[in-house]
Order: sequence, then structure tokens, then C-alpha cells
Amino acid sequence: MPVRSHPLRLREFQAADFEALYRIDQACYESTVAYSRRELRNYMRFPGSDCIIAETARKPIGFILTAHRDTWGYVITIDVLARYRRLGTGSRLLAEAERRLAAAGVREIGLETASDNASAIAFWQKHGYRTRGIRKRYYPGGRDAYSMAKLLV
Ligand SMILES: CC(C)(COP(=O)(O)OP(=O)(O)OC[C@H]1O[C@@H](n2cnc3c(N)ncnc32)[C@H](O)[C@@H]1OP(=O)(O)O)[C@@H](O)C(=O)NCCC(=O)NCCS
Repeated sequence: MPVRSHPLRLREFQAADFEALYRIDQACYESTVAYSRRELRNYMRFPGSDCIIAETARKPIGFILTAHRDTWGYVITIDVLARYRRLGTGSRLLAEAERRLAAAGVREIGLETASDNASAIAFWQKHGYRTRGIRKRYYPGGRDAYSMAKLLV
């Protein structure tokens, strides 16, 4: 299995990254759930939105997109290309996003994740996110989502 052979670097999103991020998102989710270019662009314009890129050898391999308003933060998506998973990339992205949200005054971060996405649920639980409820037929195609959240203290 190919693994990361260069160090991981986190950096800011730049406009030229958009297409690469769109392709990463398409690769990370099935077609009914992955964002269209228009959706991704709109999410990037949300109030308080912030996008952090993980790259290795100058190639984006993942990203996290968050937004916040007042004390409430939200993870819109976190995506790591499959062949680079379980190497700590998602954790690095999330830690940096949480640090920035906390610095902006956020006290609680929420997200939705598909109720059958076992790896994502394990990831969120490991990082202290707890299930607050279920949103029936939340995703296009009809899958349910868990609403999860974490208090930043
Ligand atoms: C969720 C996701 C971002 C995790 O990225 P990652 O780089 O693999 O995460 P990490 O390597 O930092 O994993 C941290 C921990 O999360 C848990 N975890 C991650 N993937 C897991 C899996 N497939 N099975 C079980 N636990 C898992 C483990 O506790 C892991 O620690 P460990 O490897 O020491 O056991 C990645 O799987 C992904 O992009 N999935 C597709 C998109 C998606 O579902 N995003 C979340 C939508 S809300």
C-alpha cells in the first residue's frame, strides 16, 4: 500500500486549490453525497468559513472545511484520500481546525456524519465528539446522519 513518503504540511487554502479539493471530495464520498462544485464553493463562502489543506510533496491529500458563528462551530467536511488514511492526517487537520475555532471564541463544535460511516464515527469518537441525535434521511439518497458535537473547554 503506498504511504506518505514526504512530511505532512498543513497550509491555507488558495483559490488555485479548488479543483484539487473538489476531486478529493468526489473520491472520498459516493456520488450521491459528494459535493458538486457549486455546493463546495457555497460552503466555502459560509460565515466564518475556514479551509485547511494537508499536503505532502506539494500535493493536497486532504482538507477540512469549517464554519462558525459566535460560539458555535461546525465541521462542514473533512476528507483524506483513502491511500493516506490511518496516518494521523485527519487528526492533524482536526486539531488545527479546533485550535482556530477556539481562538475565534467557539465553545462547541457540531457536525453530521452518516450513521453507517463506521470509520468516521470511530474518528469523531476518538476526538471527543458525542452523538446528540439522529437526523433521518439527512443525505441525498436517504441515509440517516448522526449529529455529533464536542464542547471545547
Ligand atoms: C474520517 C477520516 C477523515 C479520518 O482521516 P485519517 O487521516 O484516516 O484519520 P487518522 O489517521 O488521524 O485517524 C485517527 C483515529 O481515528 C480512528 N479511525 C480512523 N479511521 C478509522 C477506521 N477506518 N476504522 C476505525 N477507526 C478509525 C482511529 O481511532 C484512528 O487512530 P489509530 O489509527 O491510531 O487507530 C477519513 O477516514 C476520511 O476522509 N473518510 C472519508 C470522508 C469521511 O467520511 N469524512 C468524515 C465525514 S463527517
